Amino acid sequence: MSDSIKLHYTEAGQGTPLILLHGFPLSSQIWQEQQRQLSDQCRVITPDLRGHGKSPAPDGVYSMASMADDVFALMDALGIDKAAIAGHSMGGYVALAGYHRHPKRFAALGLVASQAAADNEEARQNRYKLIDKVKAQGNEVVPEAMMPRLFGARSSGDPLVEQVRKIMLGTSATSITGSLQGMAAREDFTEMLPRIGVPFLVVAGVDDKIVAVEKAKNVAAAVKGSTFVSIEGAGHMPMLEQPEAVTNALRTLLSPR
Ligand code: MLT
Repeated sequence: MSDSIKLHYTEAGQGTPLILLHGFPLSSQIWQEQQRQLSDQCRVITPDLRGHGKSPAPDGVYSMASMADDVFALMDALGIDKAAIAGHSMGGYVALAGYHRHPKRFAALGLVASQAAADNEEARQNRYKLIDKVKAQGNEVVPEAMMPRLFGARSSGDPLVEQVRKIMLGTSATSITGSLQGMAAREDFTEMLPRIGVPFLVVAGVDDKIVAVEKAKNVAAAVKGSTFVSIEGAGHMPMLEQPEAVTNALRTLLSPR
């Protein structure tokens, strides 16, 4: 873990640690409501993954494993041996890569609008095209490309859409290209799913245009004893679109059935 990056994070509450990882190219800000609502029950830690929010943005490929190592280094620094760790979309890829490396550091594992499969060739090529566009035109092209697919039923001008656009525009081109390369090269963890031995939660927005609800359901079905929560009135950003429903789902990681 010698190359790990010291992550910026916020925390609230006490007791059992719950770590919430954001997606691409976002920041810990997306979890503000859940952090506030869950801090009555546990210690909620929301890091900015490398290159995002207020964390440093090194050059190079941001592999999911390196981002997971950053999170483990943060846990070490905070004296946390084991935590419930849940990730949104890319944050879910990071959580799965982390579980693959160090399952003993997980008290529970959650995926929110995320999946276990790697990119297919088309998805990979789309990421490389976006990298070329970012290099030519700057990071403004990213919200342009992503925004129409992020929310279930919200469009430009909606405060949530504008909040997310602002976070994206604050993410540097270095971080965007590093993350896109890392996601394109990520491992497929479908085969690992039946071996997950901690409480496992999958949350899906019914109107998610990036990770279809059926795909998320299949991920949950592959893990014995998992909890699957589908959320009406939400797309790929359920923690912002239906914050309480996501908070309630995350509570199942803290007091598993
Ligand atoms: C995310 O929300 O983190 C990304 O859309 C994930 C992806 O592009 O696969």
